[in-house]
Amino acid sequence: MKKITFAVIALTIGFVSMSFINKADSSLTKASNDVLINSNEITNEEVKSIIDNKCYGCHNSESKNTKGKKKLSFDKLDELSIYKQIGKYEGIHETITEGEMPPEKFLAKYPDKALTDKEKEALLSWATTKGEELTK
Ligand code: HEC
Repeated sequence: MKKITFAVIALTIGFVSMSFINKADSSLTKASNDVLINSNEITNEEVKSIIDNKCYGCHNSESKNTKGKKKLSFDKLDELSIYKQIGKYEGIHETITEGEMPPEKFLAKYPDKALTDKEKEALLSWATTKGEELTK
């Protein structure tokens, strides 16, 4: 039983670090180094406009989407502990990789809110950079 627990932990750590390393040297759009944290302060214009158009409506502290704002509020991200912020960037990376955000039900109604491949790459690269910076 202990061995299994250990294996699960080791795998989890592996996945987390892989998801960071994965895109590290991608030649795609990179978030600038003097970075975001607050959606209003995201310096990468491309990333900022993607988030504003496709995520922010549900993920801000005033949102009517209770579940969405509870999980992630872009305007309050910098108020979380560093540890939690890293977790949020991992979450962003993961939900985009898995194609979970924006939610399917929402996209059924508003198909134009789906992320294009280019937008996905930009967000993934940005989330990776942010995560790496916080890990330093
Ligand atoms: C229509 C509203 C809506 C939009 C638009 C939306 N989300 Fe979400 N998001 C949610 C809800 C609701 C949850 C909580 C899901 C759950 O708990 O099952 C969530 C959860 C999340 C989570 C947390 C997952 C976790 O379990 O910690 C992340 C990260 C996330 N969304 C990122 C994004 C990103 C990035 C975008 C834009 C590309 C986006 N979301 C667009 C409603 C939305």
